[in-house]
Amino acid sequence: MKILAIETSCDETAIALLDISGALGKPNIKILGNTLLSQVALHEQYGGVYPDLAKREHQKNLPILLKQTLKEAKMSEAELRTIDYIAVTAGPGLEPALWVGINFAEELGKSWDKPVVPINHMEGHIYSVLYQDKFSISNFQFSKLELPALALLVSGGHTELVHIKDFGDYEILGRTRDDAVGEAFDKTARMLGLPYPGGPQISRLAENSRKRSKEDKIKLPRPMIHSKNLDFSFSGLKTAVLYRLKLENGLDDKFKEDMARAFEDAAIEVLVEKTRRALLELGDEDQPSLQLRRGAVKTLIVAGGVSANLHLSRELKKLIGEFHDITLSMPPRLLTTDNAIMIGIAAFIRLSREPEILRSQIAIRADGNLSISSVP
Ligand code: KG4
Ligand code: ZN
Repeated sequence: MKILAIETSCDETAIALLDISGALGKPNIKILGNTLLSQVALHEQYGGVYPDLAKREHQKNLPILLKQTLKEAKMSEAELRTIDYIAVTAGPGLEPALWVGINFAEELGKSWDKPVVPINHMEGHIYSVLYQDKFSISNFQFSKLELPALALLVSGGHTELVHIKDFGDYEILGRTRDDAVGEAFDKTARMLGLPYPGGPQISRLAENSRKRSKEDKIKLPRPMIHSKNLDFSFSGLKTAVLYRLKLENGLDDKFKEDMARAFEDAAIEVLVEKTRRALLELGDEDQPSLQLRRGAVKTLIVAGGVSANLHLSRELKKLIGEFHDITLSMPPRLLTTDNAIMIGIAAFIRLSREPEILRSQIAIRADGNLSISSVP
């Protein structure tokens, strides 16, 4: 099926035209056109995403990207009728930004006479692992997704552990009680005087510190690491960084590197430890052991912007080595941060599983807090 996918939930405007066929867990995905405009540089001055500015930019960018996408796909006016569906992110995200995408999709749907499918952004991140670009050389990546799976979703707005029992059947096992991990990366970077988005900057500095010394020079807390649940908390870690910085008179480059590393080590240790706990609990709730209940989890999916983090993928590879019969699946780098390809893939999964959803469709509404467990 040919799907035109639209993503405007945060600070990337993206449109993709995909032709997808085959099995749910191993689709054949052809990207006919893919365009994206990032607003990162514009939001940098605010140290985060400024919703009204994002809205205006999406409005300006969408018509430009649509033209570009259709041109890339070499699609003439007459060929537009071969598009089967329009998919659009309905939430979670910034509501003013989401509405721009939804209104654009609905108008296109009317003028082309095509059905519009609402998609959950986090479902998009999950299924981003189904697309693997052929230039990828990482050996842990694969394009076949075996369920049930556990997903660790780590982005600027979310930190969630989700049990995927089947396609479309999700249970949130744990989530952050305050800041998302990507947000903590961004805020820590800002305190260190690094540009937005902070994740890649922190990661770069932290690697320099690791090259210089084996041990963390600065010790930071690991919030909730021993709590008997699968929730996270990152705001205390951010505050610990702030208090530690107050002790310094000016920040030299080496100190910044050591601080970035101390933060990254702490945040990632918590992510990995909670993921380990989730895998064990899904295996056997009464008697946690490294022996998983057979078939409880076949794949560990790690997706969202923070999944681009080098240290996280290194630690996850170690974690997965402790378990038998579980494969680690992460998106190709191109699809770690927000994009429209993942929205198109999630639409393919939804439409294949439940083709009748469009008949019962009422008007699509933006929902900033849309939960993955509410996917019908
Ligand atoms: O998924 P995403 O593009 O947007 C949301 O849906 O939120 O994630 C963006 C987040 C930002 O907080 C950014 O700092 C973080 O992902 N990020 C990283 C890295 N690359 C992006 N965090 C840590 N290490 C990275 N290499
Ligand atoms: Zn995202």
